[in-house]
Amino acid sequence: MNRKRSEGRIAVVTGASRGIGRGIAMRLAAEGALVVVHYGTRQDAAEETVAMIEEAGGTAFAVGAELDSLDGVNRLLRILDEELIRWTGINQFDILVNNAGIGTSSSFEQTSEEDFDQLFAVNVKAPFFLVQQSLGRLRDGGRIINISSGVTRIAYPHIMAYNLTKGALNTFTLHLAQLLGPRGITVNAVMPGITDTDVNAAWLHTPDGHKFAVEMSALGRVGEPSDIADIVAFTASPDGRWITGQMIDATGGSHL
Ligand SMILES: NC(=O)c1ccc[n+]([C@@H]2O[C@H](COP(=O)([O-])OP(=O)(O)OC[C@H]3O[C@@H](n4cnc5c(N)ncnc54)[C@H](OP(=O)(O)O)[C@@H]3O)[C@@H](O)[C@H]2O)c1
Repeated sequence: MNRKRSEGRIAVVTGASRGIGRGIAMRLAAEGALVVVHYGTRQDAAEETVAMIEEAGGTAFAVGAELDSLDGVNRLLRILDEELIRWTGINQFDILVNNAGIGTSSSFEQTSEEDFDQLFAVNVKAPFFLVQQSLGRLRDGGRIINISSGVTRIAYPHIMAYNLTKGALNTFTLHLAQLLGPRGITVNAVMPGITDTDVNAAWLHTPDGHKFAVEMSALGRVGEPSDIADIVAFTASPDGRWITGQMIDATGGSHL
């Protein structure tokens, strides 16, 4: 990376132990940010992300907390406060990427109340309260980026409950952008299409699955975490200062 667009800034990336979150953490670190690598249960994977960032010359540390309740959000912020004060002397940060999320394999017909509640707890409730509780910690001129999904544009009823959570995140993005505009904080959603991460590995790494995913994109390939990370990094950078309240399609032109 030749431009250090985020030098001196601090970024918190939820779900950065693996997949898209890891890609975002690595890219923001390459741009000069001190990156907080959040994980849920996979401390080993988060430490690996930190090691990869350090090997590439960046700076990062890991913090763990299950994010499916207000208690979890508060636990994360308690640890974050301690660590940020230790690293920087103050508990402030500049960029929040709400990336941690879960998918579903339940069809509309099969979705139980428990599945539904867990999807909303992780994908909607946690980002909602993380932002609410971070307002005093996020600096003016900061950035919030919510990782949504292409399923808010493309009909894919097989995973209905998941799709609804991402629709809620888009609505949150729009209204937050209006609310936080006076503080110079931009809020955007980035909407990946099918991306090669653990969540898709079982079906995407089969010949039929791969063909299905490739044919979906106008660009004729499957998305990689770095494809999403580059878009997030632009939005997070000073170059993205005039974009707010937007749902940015990051599907490689799927179903145009
Ligand atoms: N992959 C795709 O095709 C795709 C497409 C559109 C949108 N997205 C969205 O992109 C985001 C990242 O997806 P991904 O494919 O990179 O997923 P992934 O590889 O399964 O990684 C998920 C990340 O979220 C964390 N996480 C999951 N549940 C958590 C919980 N209850 N509490 C705290 N952390 C939790 C995981 O932490 P641990 O490692 O500790 O478990 C991990 O770091 C998600 O919001 C997803 O909905 C993905």
